[in-house]
Amino acid sequence: MTNDKIALVTGANKGIGKEIARQLGELGHTVVIGSRDLARGEAAAKELVADGLRAEAVQLEVTSEQSVQAAATAIEREHGRLDVLVNNAAIIPDGDAAVSAIAAGALRAAYETNVIGVVLTTAAMLPLVRKAAGARIVNISSELGSLTRVGDPESEMSTMLMLGYNSSKAAVNMVTVMLANELRGTGILVNAADPGNCATDMGGWDALRTPAQGAAVAVRLATLDAAGPTGELHAESGRLPW
Ligand SMILES: NC(=O)c1ccc[n+]([C@@H]2O[C@H](COP(=O)([O-])OP(=O)(O)OC[C@H]3O[C@@H](n4cnc5c(N)ncnc54)[C@H](OP(=O)(O)O)[C@@H]3O)[C@@H](O)[C@H]2O)c1
Repeated sequence: MTNDKIALVTGANKGIGKEIARQLGELGHTVVIGSRDLARGEAAAKELVADGLRAEAVQLEVTSEQSVQAAATAIEREHGRLDVLVNNAAIIPDGDAAVSAIAAGALRAAYETNVIGVVLTTAAMLPLVRKAAGARIVNISSELGSLTRVGDPESEMSTMLMLGYNSSKAAVNMVTVMLANELRGTGILVNAADPGNCATDMGGWDALRTPAQGAAVAVRLATLDAAGPTGELHAESGRLPW
């Protein structure tokens, strides 16, 4: 099954991003694997192509305006538009810690990739997104970015002392709401997805959910019909509070 949709997933050389790319490919999209290391991205694309999917790789370092702009230029040249943008690339910075213990460098690193990277990528891709009919933008967030969840002293989330990661994902939530507001009425829907704790390099290999399970909510938001929500955070269980 193929369709004419073009999807870019950042940080798609491994983990949840690769599974999002795979599942969009299985729905017939042509997937562009964004990877800061082009060889790793090409290896992932090759795997998907070997499974009969349409996939290609582009070098994309989300903290580099030059890299992001070059990726946008390459996608424009190849495809002329972007139907789906999934901002998936993120880090938990080395030395992430509680407010009282975190070093400024760890906080900066988290914001550089997880927030500024999302904004830079989105801004560079937006002209291509606007050229598609009814594009979808999905920012990969986390329950750890939910003020409601982390603010609940009974919640396991309140015990995870990672200011860099948690606050950067809370900022991604605000980016999502503000972009959804900016694009309201254009037919472009913008939402955030919480994959849940999945077994990846970031999530830890003892996590109970597979990357494929984590990818599913992002794929659902990336393929919403025109009546779908915008400016919301969703997990497998449904809408989450901010
Ligand atoms: N796993 C979980 O339990 C979990 C739970 C909630 C939310 N999430 C979110 O889900 C998303 C994917 O996480 P994951 O578990 O799949 O993590 P992962 O296995 O560590 O993969 C992260 C991906 O992001 C890429 N990346 C990191 N920094 C980048 C940069 N500056 N420019 C471009 N790419 C960059 C990595 O590239 P390299 O291979 O080059 O490092 C890799 O492809 C993230 O947004 C994460 O915050 C994960």
